[in-house]
Amino acid sequence: MDVPLALPFATLVVVLLLSSGPIAAEVDGTAVLGEAVLTLDAGNFSEVVAKHEFIVVEFYAPWCGHCKELAPEYEKAASMLRKRDPPVVLAKVDAYDESNKELKDKYKVHGYPAIKIIRKGGSDVSAYGGPRDVEGIVEYLTRQVGPASLEIRSAVDASRSIGDKGVVLVGVFPEFAGIEYENFMAVANKMRTDYDFFHTSDASILPRGDLTVKGPLLRLFKPFDELFVDSQDFDDDAIKKFIEVSGFPTVVTFDADPTNHKFIERYYSTPSAKTGNAFLALQ
Ligand SMILES: *[C@@H]1O[C@H](CO)[C@@H](O)[C@H](O)[C@H]1NC(C)=O
Repeated sequence: MDVPLALPFATLVVVLLLSSGPIAAEVDGTAVLGEAVLTLDAGNFSEVVAKHEFIVVEFYAPWCGHCKELAPEYEKAASMLRKRDPPVVLAKVDAYDESNKELKDKYKVHGYPAIKIIRKGGSDVSAYGGPRDVEGIVEYLTRQVGPASLEIRSAVDASRSIGDKGVVLVGVFPEFAGIEYENFMAVANKMRTDYDFFHTSDASILPRGDLTVKGPLLRLFKPFDELFVDSQDFDDDAIKKFIEVSGFPTVVTFDADPTNHKFIERYYSTPSAKTGNAFLALQ
C-alpha cells in the first residue's frame, strides 16, 4: 500500500506549495516576499549591496511622515524598475532601529527619509537627488543607471534635454576625446545625482547657441538668475567649483519642491557656495 499512497501525497504537497500565500520571487538569489522593495538590516546589508553594481537604499524611520508618503510610490517604482533589464533594485533600512545604528552612521543619515544611490558594490555612494513620485523616481533612476552624460544630436534633443526645471550642464567638444572631455566625464560621474550632464559637438543646436563656438566649452543652463554661464577651465576641481558656484541659486525658495532640497542642504553644508550673497526665502 505504501507506493500508491506516496504519489498522491507528493502531489498534494506540490499543490499546497504552489497555492501558498505570498508570492515568493528570486532577485539575484535574494528571496522577497510580496514586496518589490528589499528590506535590509545590519545582518545582510553589506552582502546584498556587494552583489549589486547599482542599488538604491532608503533609510527611513517608522514614525516619519515623509517616509510614509514615499512608501507606496517607492514600492510601485521598485516593481517597475525590477522589470528593467538589467533590473534596478530598490531597498530600505529602518535606520531608527538601534541594531542598524552602524549603518545609519556610516551612511551619514541625519534626516528621514535619506535615500542613497550605492554603486559598484558599495564603493561609490551619493545622495538621491530626484523626485518622490512614481514617474519621477522611475525616470530619474533610469537616467542614473545609464551613461553619466548623454549626447545631444539635434535641436529637438537639446530642447527636450534642457528644460526649465533644473541645472543642466552641456560640454561642447570638437571631438569626444582629449583631457577636457575626460575630465568632464569624470565630473559628470561624480555629480550626476544632482545635475544632468550632456555633451555635443554642435553648439549651434543649443538654446542661445552659437555657430562660432567649437569648444571645448562648458555651458551651464539654469532656470534662475542669468540663465546660462560658460566656462573654459576643464581642470577637475575647476569644473566642480564652476558647477557648485554657478549652479547655486542666489535665492533658494524653501517650499515643498524636493528639487530645491539639495540646494538647501548644500547651503547648510557649504555656506560659501555662493560667496556671501545667497540667502534662503522661507515660504
Ligand atoms: C535581511 O534580514 C532581515 C531579517 O533580519 C529580513 O527580514 C530581510 O528579508 C533580509 N533581506 C534580504 C534581502 O535578504
